[in-house]
Amino acid sequence: MSSPTRSKSEAWLRYSDDLGLGPFYLDRASQSTPEVAAPPDSTDAPSFAERSERAPEESSRVSAPDHSSPALSAAAPRRAPEPPPVNKPTAPPTFIPAAPAPSLFESADRIEGDTLDRIRVDIGPNCTRCKLHKARTNIVFGVGNPKAQLVFVGEGPGRDEDEQGEPFVGRAGKLLTQMIEAMGLRRQDVYICNVVKCRPPENRLPEKDEIATCSPYLFRQIDVIKPKVVCCLGTCAAQTLLNTNQGISRYRGEFFDYRGAKLIATYHPAYLLRNPNAKGDVWKDLQKVMTLLGLQPKRR
Ligand code: URA
Repeated sequence: MSSPTRSKSEAWLRYSDDLGLGPFYLDRASQSTPEVAAPPDSTDAPSFAERSERAPEESSRVSAPDHSSPALSAAAPRRAPEPPPVNKPTAPPTFIPAAPAPSLFESADRIEGDTLDRIRVDIGPNCTRCKLHKARTNIVFGVGNPKAQLVFVGEGPGRDEDEQGEPFVGRAGKLLTQMIEAMGLRRQDVYICNVVKCRPPENRLPEKDEIATCSPYLFRQIDVIKPKVVCCLGTCAAQTLLNTNQGISRYRGEFFDYRGAKLIATYHPAYLLRNPNAKGDVWKDLQKVMTLLGLQPKRR
C-alpha cells in the first residue's frame, strides 16, 4: 500500500473509532475462551477479602457459573459471568484496545467547560433516551470526589442503587468500600459511577443500545474529573471503555492509556462475593493502582 493511501486508511480507521463504529477489523462476536483457573491466592490480601469471605452469598448481579452448586446456579441472575481468574501470561499481552489509540479528536472531542453538574443537567431528571427508563426509580449518576485521582466504573445500578440513587450501596458496594479502604482511601476520596445510569430490569446485563446511549455521559464524567487512574469493575465497564469485545481475563491487571489516564480492569465486587478465590487477583490489581498513586495500604 502506498504511503498516502496507508495514512488515509489509518485516519479513516481512527475516524470510525471516534464515531463509535468500533474496530471493524476485530471479530466483535468472538468471546474469549476460558483459560486455566489460577490457584487461590489471597494470602496477602487485606481485610476486605477476609471479612467478605465470611459474609453469606448474595444474589449478586455478576455471577460466575457455579457447577458445584445447582441451587445457587439456578438462583443466579442472568448477568454475564466474569471469566475465571487466569494465570497471567509471562509474555506481554497481545491485546490491543481500540479506544486508547491516538484519536483524531483526542482533545477536540472534550467538551469545553464541561462540568459534572452540566452532565447531570444534560441527562435531565426524567431521561427517556433508552428503554431502561421504564423500570427505574432513580437515575444513578455517580458519587464522590469530583477531583478524584481514582475513578471506579461499574456496570449499572442494582436494586439498592436504584432505590437510593447512589452507586454501589448494596452488598457488592460494601465490598467495594472495603476495597477502597484497604487501599488507604475513603469512599469519598474516589469517584464511583456506572456505564448505564438506570437499573437494567431483573439485573440483566445492559444491552448494546443502552450502553451506546448512556456511555457518552460516562466518557464526559471521566473527561471532567481527569483522574490519574480509571479502574473498570468487571467486563461491561472494561469492554465499554476499551471499546473491545474481548473477555476481561485477557487484559485484567494490565494498564492502558485512556485519555490522559491509566486504565486498569479488575473483577467486579459482585463476582468476588461469589468467587472469593479471585480476591487475591483483585488485590494485586489494586496494589498496582496504589503504586501508581503513591498510596500506602490501610494498617490493620
Ligand atoms: N453493580 C454495579 O455495577 N454498579 C452498581 O452501582 C452496583 C452494583
